[in-house]
Amino acid sequence: MIQLKNASKSYMQGAREVHALRNVSLNIGKGEFLSVMGASGSGKSTLLNLIGGLDQPSGGEIFMDGKPLHGISDDELTLIRRRRVGFIFQFFNLLPVLTAAENVSLPLLLEGTPFSQIQPKAVDLLKKMGLEERVDHRPEQLSGGEMQRVAIARALVTNPAVLLADEPTGNLDSHTSEEIFMLLKSLHEQGQTIVMVTHDPRAAAYGSRIVTLKDGAISEDITTGGLEA
Ligand SMILES: Nc1ncnc2c1ncn2[C@@H]1O[C@H](COP(=O)(O)OP(=O)(O)O)[C@@H](O)[C@H]1O
Ligand SMILES: [Mg+2]
Repeated sequence: MIQLKNASKSYMQGAREVHALRNVSLNIGKGEFLSVMGASGSGKSTLLNLIGGLDQPSGGEIFMDGKPLHGISDDELTLIRRRRVGFIFQFFNLLPVLTAAENVSLPLLLEGTPFSQIQPKAVDLLKKMGLEERVDHRPEQLSGGEMQRVAIARALVTNPAVLLADEPTGNLDSHTSEEIFMLLKSLHEQGQTIVMVTHDPRAAAYGSRIVTLKDGAISEDITTGGLEA
């Protein structure tokens, strides 16, 4: 479903060129739950951002469902990102002035769909995240785990082809983290394709496959089948 062929990404840091990714080739199948591990600075976020169309490779090719994500215009990339990709982040990135239901609706509101049309779907997703009592709460009224579950509901509202998670529990305690991983695991069991970046081996073990990056290149690629509950 997602294909990288010799993808590379370099950044300029002052006069110095940093090779964040070096000739990475990777196929991610539909329905896979891929964990991406590696030390800080190994290129995990760069890889995720290329897969999600937040950024373009400096070299090589990336395809989603056979369509190129490289060498296309920013507008085309934005459309693919909005419609085909769901993101969750370490710091949740919820808008503080909006309720949970409004935050979940945001990706579709940005496309011009009226809130009244989205609301039932937003409420349904929040229920699936165990947040039926929190629909009208604002982020400041929610715990960290609840905020991340709202963010997951928001990421799913467009029925994305792939859910991308960058250190999704980096700001949560271990018990709450476990709840988030179980939730991702159950989404995977329902067929959702997931790519999750983590530096924590225990977290990575929830994936059905673990790719490890070292200095911007794949050093290991193991299929595990995923941690049993
Ligand atoms: N926007 C950027 N500008 C310059 N250098 C960057 C940028 N993003 C990442 N890098 C560099 O690329 C390398 C890989 O970064 P990153 O993908 O964020 O690693 P990780 O997520 O594994 O910690 C690091 O050396 C980092 O400093
Ligand atoms: Mg990172």
